[in-house]
Amino acid sequence: MSAIRRRTFLTGSATAAACFSLGAGLAARNGLAAPVPAVLTTRFINRHIAAGAVTRKLMTYTLGIPAEGDVPPVLRMRKGEPFAARLVNGLDEPTTVHWHGLRIPNAMDGVPEMTQAYVYAGDSFDYAFTPPDAGTFWYHPHCNTLTQMGHGLTGVIVVEDPADPLFDAEIVLNLRDWRLGKDGAFLAPFKPRDAARGGTYGTVRTANWLEAPAHDAPAGGLVRLRLAATDVTRIYTVGIDGAAAMVIALDGNPVEIPTPLDRLDFGPGQRAELVLRMPDTEGAVVTLGNFRGSTPWTIATLRATGQSLKRDIRDVSPLPANPVAEADLSTAERIPLDFTATAEHAPSPSICGTIGYTFWAINKVPWPGDTPDPVAPLSELKLGRSYVLQVRNRTPHAHPIHLHGLSFRVISSNRRAILPPPTDTILLLPDEQAELALVADNPGDWLLHCHIIEHQKTGMTGYFRIA
Ligand code: C2O
Ligand code: CU
Repeated sequence: MSAIRRRTFLTGSATAAACFSLGAGLAARNGLAAPVPAVLTTRFINRHIAAGAVTRKLMTYTLGIPAEGDVPPVLRMRKGEPFAARLVNGLDEPTTVHWHGLRIPNAMDGVPEMTQAYVYAGDSFDYAFTPPDAGTFWYHPHCNTLTQMGHGLTGVIVVEDPADPLFDAEIVLNLRDWRLGKDGAFLAPFKPRDAARGGTYGTVRTANWLEAPAHDAPAGGLVRLRLAATDVTRIYTVGIDGAAAMVIALDGNPVEIPTPLDRLDFGPGQRAELVLRMPDTEGAVVTLGNFRGSTPWTIATLRATGQSLKRDIRDVSPLPANPVAEADLSTAERIPLDFTATAEHAPSPSICGTIGYTFWAINKVPWPGDTPDPVAPLSELKLGRSYVLQVRNRTPHAHPIHLHGLSFRVISSNRRAILPPPTDTILLLPDEQAELALVADNPGDWLLHCHIIEHQKTGMTGYFRIA
């Protein structure tokens, strides 16, 4: 691997994002106390998403002046180096930024009422933190989340590690759907009947806001593909046709031994990093497909360009591990958590929106989150102690359960043979019972919720208090 020269491969707006984040990175490396904050602005734009129709009032994040063709920028950070961003709210409603998967101080976590005040229209908020882990993460609002995420506010974060192996190209794909009518206008964000089941699907499926985009990559080269499932509902089952591929990281943490990719399931909030070996022949096409459901479809394609670099996929070495503490299972306290449906009960209105129904609960308590009247914590954890969450999905639906601010390790499950590396989100399968071990090493109030946003907002939300 060390013989392989790094070649930066960026397309379209990814180039702009890389330039903008360069300033912050350089400042940090030159030993300055604090990096120059990136200015991350939320705003409305009009854009083509579905073929032949303009969608008005999409919500997006921009760095600097928005350009035609912009998608929410890939924010690049470096493991162990300070990062800063000023959120400027150009919407007409409050918002916040949650840095999904980053183990950073509670005050930077972006949960209104719990960790910070709402950022009202026209206001700004300064985020500053040092990401401790390298990998693929993402960012999104935590206020009126179903609408704001559904209308566009989801972006990918890449935390680089200078010790990473080098690849011939890197492609970042933000996977999500849109609920649009034929005229390109937004449909209602959900149907209550679906919210009480697996969630409401979009009508247009995109990667980086494009339907089945085509990328170029060097023939015979090793490509690092970073996938982030930022949709509010869809669970993906991805596979690659036309190239050998390995899984190297899941949810920001490296797998111990890179394993050949067959089919990989991942749900809203989760990320997957693959390495694939492009074909030798110029023009050959590799397809990233979704194989969930009865009709497979193309997420994106990669076309081989130039003379073959003749790499060998067996040269892919494991990524360096992140500093996630291992729980002490001999002293760990067990905490049971039951995920269930619940009888209807009306949620109270909130400045961050309510979707008006209650369908789900954790340990029998339904709570939509982001409200000024939080319920009691699921449990109070002692700083530095080890815990095992005994999670149990008592529903016939899969739920991607996300914990803020901490990483946990799945140590047992009645539904899976292979246990993933440490993670911040587990796709809890129907009727799955699993044990999640963690060290409570980050103080504060940390949300735990389903990342199917309709489930989150209709009750499948709780939090831990660590002190
Ligand atoms: Cu992706 Cu509460 O977060
Ligand atoms: Cu759910």
